[in-house]
Amino acid sequence: MAQLPEIHSESLLDYLSTSVLVFDRDFRLRYINPAGEVMFAQSHRHAHGKAINELFANPGQLTTELGSVLASGQVVSQHGCRLELTNGLAVVVNCTHTPVSLSGGLSGIMLEMQKVDHQLRVEQEEQLIAQQEATHSLLRGLAHEIKNPLGGLRGAAQLLEKEIPDSELREYTRIIIGEADRLQNLMDRMLGPNDVPNIQAVNIHQILERVRELVLVEADSGLRINQDYDPSLPDLMADPDLLVQAVLNIVRNAAQALEGRGKIILRTRVQRQFNIGNRQHRLVACIEVIDNGPGIDAALQAKIFYPMVTSRSDGTGLGLSIAQSLINRHHGLIECNSKPGETVFTILLPLENGT
Ligand SMILES: Nc1ncnc2c1ncn2[C@@H]1O[C@H](COP(=O)(O)OP(=O)(O)OP(=O)(O)O)[C@@H](O)[C@H]1O
Ligand SMILES: [Mg+2]
Repeated sequence: MAQLPEIHSESLLDYLSTSVLVFDRDFRLRYINPAGEVMFAQSHRHAHGKAINELFANPGQLTTELGSVLASGQVVSQHGCRLELTNGLAVVVNCTHTPVSLSGGLSGIMLEMQKVDHQLRVEQEEQLIAQQEATHSLLRGLAHEIKNPLGGLRGAAQLLEKEIPDSELREYTRIIIGEADRLQNLMDRMLGPNDVPNIQAVNIHQILERVRELVLVEADSGLRINQDYDPSLPDLMADPDLLVQAVLNIVRNAAQALEGRGKIILRTRVQRQFNIGNRQHRLVACIEVIDNGPGIDAALQAKIFYPMVTSRSDGTGLGLSIAQSLINRHHGLIECNSKPGETVFTILLPLENGT
């Protein structure tokens, strides 16, 4: 089991995915937790002591709300509040305002905020993970059932071949054997690796470099693969071969979409207090594969992670479905965003043992 962080009551707020802000009665910020720092793009050091109108471009309604919470001493919850930040960004949040007592007996207000789109994303991802698990177990069951009689068919065709004196007729048994082998390969791909993953500390940049080399060897000289790596990314616990396979399937797709000419960027970043499905992780490795190809047709985009979905005449439509299942085995997720000129596949992997 992954090592759990040791929690002390004073550091509890650091582990929340909910943003927590505390204002004093003059509406100056006294505290902001790490989730709040991320949501409002403000460091605690920089934001501490700032007045509410220095933090938000539309502080009017919030100030009135906080004033009434202070006056009444009642907890107030609000849904869908739009907060405009001074840097021009805006967030829509569900929030709860609670009157609190600050050190020195002064009164203050604690704000708990959660982004509305965050909640939506969690629900969508949970649905996606459940759907993919169901499709995969169906597919594996089906592949298993096909593999058994296929072995019998192939064996019988081999025996038959030995009995047939006419070499012209043997052409037919060879077709049976050849097609049985093709189907067997397809079924093996559908079943995926069966071994127990060989989990070890893995440097994700080494994985990306291996994939980069493999794809560059296959590609025409018009393809560039640039690196934009975050060197602070800690090692993650994973099976390196499975990760190479998953990333390779994605980068190879990008190279194929570019038809030998264009640019792929491999980017890594760390995300703090990040949800994958309904599980919150303290640190998540975010690996992006970005290409400047034609993009994925909108109708196809919703289906690309399903098996057998392909737009290529020689594609089996298994690459992304296998990649998703390999990343799911590491408790991660692959997301895709695409428009003409920019397709981004994002692999999210928890860094439970990261520092
Ligand atoms: N970077 C990309 N740009 C444009 N389209 C893409 C990209 N990545 C995937 N696709 C689309 O998604 C489809 C499914 O990809 P997937 O890897 O699952 O199967 P495939 O590449 O068609 O076949 P296989 O990988 O099994 O050889 C592709 O056929 C292609 O239409
Ligand atoms: Mg593919």
